[in-house]
Amino acid sequence: MSVLALDWDIEAAGGRGALRLLDQTLLPARTGYRVVTTVDALVEAIVELAVRGAPALGVAGAFGVVLALDEAEREGWDAARLDAEVDRLRSARPTAVNLAWGVDQVRPLIPQGREAVLAAAHALAAADEAANRELSARAADWLLERTQRPRLRVLTHCNAGALATSAWGTALGVVRELHARGRLELVYVDETRPLLQGARLTAWELRAEGIPHTVQVDGAAASTVLRGLVDCAVVGADRVAANGDVANKIGTLAVGLACREAGVPLLVAAPWSTVDLDVADGDGIEIEQRPDHEVTTVGGVRVAPEGSPAFNPAFDVTPARLVTALATERGVLEPAAGRTPGTAEHEGMSF
Ligand code: MRU
Repeated sequence: MSVLALDWDIEAAGGRGALRLLDQTLLPARTGYRVVTTVDALVEAIVELAVRGAPALGVAGAFGVVLALDEAEREGWDAARLDAEVDRLRSARPTAVNLAWGVDQVRPLIPQGREAVLAAAHALAAADEAANRELSARAADWLLERTQRPRLRVLTHCNAGALATSAWGTALGVVRELHARGRLELVYVDETRPLLQGARLTAWELRAEGIPHTVQVDGAAASTVLRGLVDCAVVGADRVAANGDVANKIGTLAVGLACREAGVPLLVAAPWSTVDLDVADGDGIEIEQRPDHEVTTVGGVRVAPEGSPAFNPAFDVTPARLVTALATERGVLEPAAGRTPGTAEHEGMSF
């Protein structure tokens, strides 16, 4: 995939460099970019989902520390103000652990200066792509072994593709890997209400690469699984707790329940940066609540009566007992069978 969700534009800001984001709010109708030079603009882009997806948020957070340093120099911020701005960036969205993780990876380098922070952000982006490619290969091996099918029919929810990462993707990385091996039949793409990351973004990525897919409404997913139309479901994650509970886009839990009922494997594909061993289980994961209008309007047109409020959690938690496999670059764990990130860590698993 040639299009990147984000990159460091060395020519922007008079040669100082700035973060260039592919504005995902415009897709698939238009390809447009935001060149971001301030913490404010980056926080706004994150809240509006111009840049989104857990690993991409991690990379954005790391480059955002460089932007904060540049702004501090321009605006004459003292150390306390710089700290407060970096904290604000770190918590722009609460559920995906990668955002805070990305900031925390580079923040200790601030005393070494801007170039050290910038180099670390670039390294983090490169490591994310490498992790995605590795976990995709491991996941594909696991799925082919488990299903024993010549070509897989895969259901996916939301967008966990190149657009959600520095490159390649997690769940869609697995799809790409299967396709490259000639082992993919069809992808059922949940449209993913209310912001349609599936219909707008996943379908856009798959179409660009000629990968066979069909878009379905979220309400069709359980029936598709129980009718035997798919061999597996593959999704990404925003945060994985030590016990293997998985926070991901709202609707993932329903897919997991259908998969268990049908005996179909649910594979969660995520880099290790999405695992949060400080959180024991899903109860400790903050779920972002988003504005009512995302639910009560469609394409800017109100569809619910004036005055009707909306319940709009952006994510849900799929319990570990429904997660057949968790594929990371370190290896594939089977949370439903008791192999969780926490136990793996305790056993000193080498991965
Ligand atoms: O609200 P979003 O679009 O940021 O939600 C994204 C998801 O839920 C993805 O599935 C998750 O971040 C994994 S992306 C590799």
